Amino acid sequence: MNEKKLVGETAVDYVKEGMVLGLGTGSTVSYTIAKLGRLVQQGFSIKGVPSSVKTEKLALEAGIPLAPLDQIEQIDLAIDGADEVDLNFNLIKGGGGALLREKIIAKAAKSFIVVADSRKIVKKLGTFPLPVEVVPFGLRMTIKGIQDLGLSPEIRQIKGALYKTDNGNNIVDCKLPEKINLEHLEQNLNSIPGVVDNGLFIGMADTVMTVNNEKHIVVNVRK
Ligand code: A5P
Repeated sequence: MNEKKLVGETAVDYVKEGMVLGLGTGSTVSYTIAKLGRLVQQGFSIKGVPSSVKTEKLALEAGIPLAPLDQIEQIDLAIDGADEVDLNFNLIKGGGGALLREKIIAKAAKSFIVVADSRKIVKKLGTFPLPVEVVPFGLRMTIKGIQDLGLSPEIRQIKGALYKTDNGNNIVDCKLPEKINLEHLEQNLNSIPGVVDNGLFIGMADTVMTVNNEKHIVVNVRK
């Protein structure tokens, strides 16, 4: 069974007619977008705010009407994937490099649903390296600042060239030390001048949708 498809499509059950939706990035949410597209073809009215160039393209191909975030008062619901989800609804995101726009959209949304296949659910965040978006200027100094926080950063490369985000920045993937306070880490990283944002989403997710051992959908709602 394709767990990504199952959770991605089930999230559409939470979408109501007329909603403004934050559309995340990644393979899981691509199933959400495809299903929404099929509903739109049948006359269902929604508006999407895409979190990446890739998602924008996908949503347009699916026929979903889009709007830029600056023309929207509020996002009703954001749906997005994650690289890791812990039992307290904290996330690591940014494996696909879209963490900054994803975080802006999640923050702007009244409600945020995370769609995650069972392999993403962890007791403790940190097996997946934490993506940090950094400006190209002064990269070495910024990386040193990240190292000084006790992380092991590695600059992301694609085919030998530095990876570029939709915002023209670079990504540094960071191995976390065994013991670290995630809330402090999120703030400390963002106080390094060259860091734009990082892939820790602390206390942002309202609902986590995943699949249990019996291959049934499980919906956990934060109290
Ligand atoms: C994109 O930058 C990420 O935050 C994705 O949401 C995350 O990597 C999940 O991707 P998949 O759904 O492809 O696993």
